Amino acid sequence: MTQKTPPIITSDTAKSMLEGKTSVSIDLGLSKTMIKQTKTEYHLNEVESIDKESLEKIAQDERSIYFVQKNIVYMAAIGGKHFYKLAKTPGAPTLEIDGIRMHRTKDTTPEKDTEDKIQALGLHSGRVLDTCMGLGYTAVQAHQNGAEYVVSIEYEPNVIRIAQLNPWSRKLFTEENIYKLIGDSFYVVDTFPSDHFDYIIHDPPRHSSAGHLYGQEFYDKLARVLKPRGRMFHYTGEPRSRYRKVNIQKGITERLALAGFTDIQYHHSVMGVTCTLGTV
Ligand SMILES: C[S@@+](CC[C@H](N)C(=O)[O-])C[C@H]1O[C@@H](n2cnc3c(N)ncnc32)[C@H](O)[C@@H]1O
Repeated sequence: MTQKTPPIITSDTAKSMLEGKTSVSIDLGLSKTMIKQTKTEYHLNEVESIDKESLEKIAQDERSIYFVQKNIVYMAAIGGKHFYKLAKTPGAPTLEIDGIRMHRTKDTTPEKDTEDKIQALGLHSGRVLDTCMGLGYTAVQAHQNGAEYVVSIEYEPNVIRIAQLNPWSRKLFTEENIYKLIGDSFYVVDTFPSDHFDYIIHDPPRHSSAGHLYGQEFYDKLARVLKPRGRMFHYTGEPRSRYRKVNIQKGITERLALAGFTDIQYHHSVMGVTCTLGTV
């Protein structure tokens, strides 16, 4: 099964096309495509084309990502109660929710950060629960590292729509052994059998926007579905970050210990902890 994404244009692509280059990337750097230029249009494939004026506008916008559908240009973003946007980085794109980036991009790229998280966890086989799908980078990386299967949960359907536009998320939709569920992880985990998963990747939004995913009740639920000696990676953010003067990192460690996790180690490079259920 192939997942087709529409032609994607960024400021880099637009500049290349305006400079007259004919071999350009319309999938965020994953491959090159030959495009044809006529007097008024740039033909991106057999069906889609874009005009010069639109390219000139996109060339000025270093942060956004655009796609072309039925010859109309759209920003890869969805507004509503919250604003979801696919945002340009020097590597794989990130997801912004109300302007907050869902991947680390300072001194790293989303794809490198993802690899580092999975490596910190030591994942190379087994059943995996990915509590917060986002663009699916952790789910796909877990699958590539040899997971038997990955169950990935996303609360917000608009995020899935954004991921469907992202060429870097393609495998999330094409790999048979990545099961995608929509819902609040807090409740969805109740539907899984006990002692089921070998690994959990818990990569939630920051504490201020999803506090219940950092709470004792949720950690107890995660401990129930993880096998004894199963491992978890939990993105926590910087240990010194403070929210209402509470040291978030310290509280997380204490609650994980109460839920039965041991060997709780903070990894500065990925701003998260790894831990093991029960005695190592
Ligand atoms: C930091 S991002 C995850 C990034 C992801 N691991 C990846 O590789 O792209 C957090 C995601 O969790 C989603 N989310 C927020 N609350 C959630 C909840 N209660 N249950 C499941 N997903 C949730 C957000 O919409 C967002 O897409």
